[in-house]
Amino acid sequence: QLIINIGCLAGIQQNNTILRGAALATIQTITNAFLLVENGCIKQFGSMIEIELQQYTSAEIVDANGATILPAWCDSHTHLVFAASREEEFVDKLKGKTYAEIAAKGGGILNSAAKLQNVSENELYEKAAMRLSELIKLGTGAVEIKSGYGLTVAAELKMLRVIKRLKETFAQIPVKATFLGAHAFPAEFKNDHEGYIDLIINEMLPGIAKENLADYIDVFCEQGFFSVDEMIRVCNAGADYGLKPKLHVNQLNSIGGIQAAVELKAVSVDHLETMTDNDVQVLANSNTIGTLLPTAAFFLRMQYQPARQLIDSGCAIALASDFNPGSSPSGNMNFVVALSCIQMKMLPAEAINAATQNAAFAMEVQNEMGSITAGKKANLIFTKPITSIDYLPYAFGSDLIDRVMIAGSFV
Ligand code: NIG
Ligand code: FE
Repeated sequence: QLIINIGCLAGIQQNNTILRGAALATIQTITNAFLLVENGCIKQFGSMIEIELQQYTSAEIVDANGATILPAWCDSHTHLVFAASREEEFVDKLKGKTYAEIAAKGGGILNSAAKLQNVSENELYEKAAMRLSELIKLGTGAVEIKSGYGLTVAAELKMLRVIKRLKETFAQIPVKATFLGAHAFPAEFKNDHEGYIDLIINEMLPGIAKENLADYIDVFCEQGFFSVDEMIRVCNAGADYGLKPKLHVNQLNSIGGIQAAVELKAVSVDHLETMTDNDVQVLANSNTIGTLLPTAAFFLRMQYQPARQLIDSGCAIALASDFNPGSSPSGNMNFVVALSCIQMKMLPAEAINAATQNAAFAMEVQNEMGSITAGKKANLIFTKPITSIDYLPYAFGSDLIDRVMIAGSFV
């Protein structure tokens, strides 16, 4: 048992539901609070004056008097298993190189896939584990990770085995695995989409199911990548193995992905930089969560997701980092939250809820993560002294995390 004495406890949620509209803007806090942690979980919390300390003579006391405590971030969309960074592509873009020139020189999804083929599972694991350890120190307490830089049977399985190993070694961090074989068509299948989709359906999926390597299925639905019909076929095949869809849609173009994803009962639709009014309405009338990835828009200098329109229309939205070497080489959720407020006009409370409670729903860990609620995991952020939670996105360049607790232990 552990009793934490806290300056301000924030992120308390009475109802374990997806937050929409006004509920998204509501964060309950208690000042001068205590939190009782037992077996790595939140057991009880309340005002410090209510606790009868003599009941807990054997409990360890943690003094976090100046700190605000928040539930750890849930990052429901990352690609953190990759072989190599792509900063040369970044510099070439700064110098004005075109996409074709960059692709020829080592940029893009296909080139990340080429680099991954010859990297061993061990080396891939070591690199990914280092990235995940860094994210935990930045306050991430649950993470979804995608394959999709393999694009061959062997390399997709290799990526998913790395994610499985991360699940085992980071046992206190909920980790979800998503199969994204449909990330791009390999060069040899450029004019044979059927051939690659057959490979996904007849070879990748059965292999993944045999080793139980994935929780979800994802498709990059975009012009020049996978069409809506191709996405539907891949998702239907995934459904035969119990994989629910979490999908890349509406990043560059609106081609009907939202409508199809909602019909497929997707857990989430992610990116959403390019949304028509109809897309927003369809999403608002569904149970699918819209996951906004503002750091991808930031890094690619694109228009941001229409967060205000989505929220005001009643959509359930979450925030995630999209951590990947091409479009978001950062998994820092503190910056994701800040950018959402600064560039998309989300209120600080909305952004925090979208990166915790709703994000937990977007990766189906809402029963153990996402809020200060009795029974959930004690994966918590301890801030340095701050005046209010509004200060977090406001002081976007400061490192405001003092300590991170995972399952009741400081990391
Ligand atoms: O989510 N948009 C598709 N996939 C990634 C980027 C992949 C890459 O450039 O390596 C994304 O942004
Ligand atoms: Fe992504």
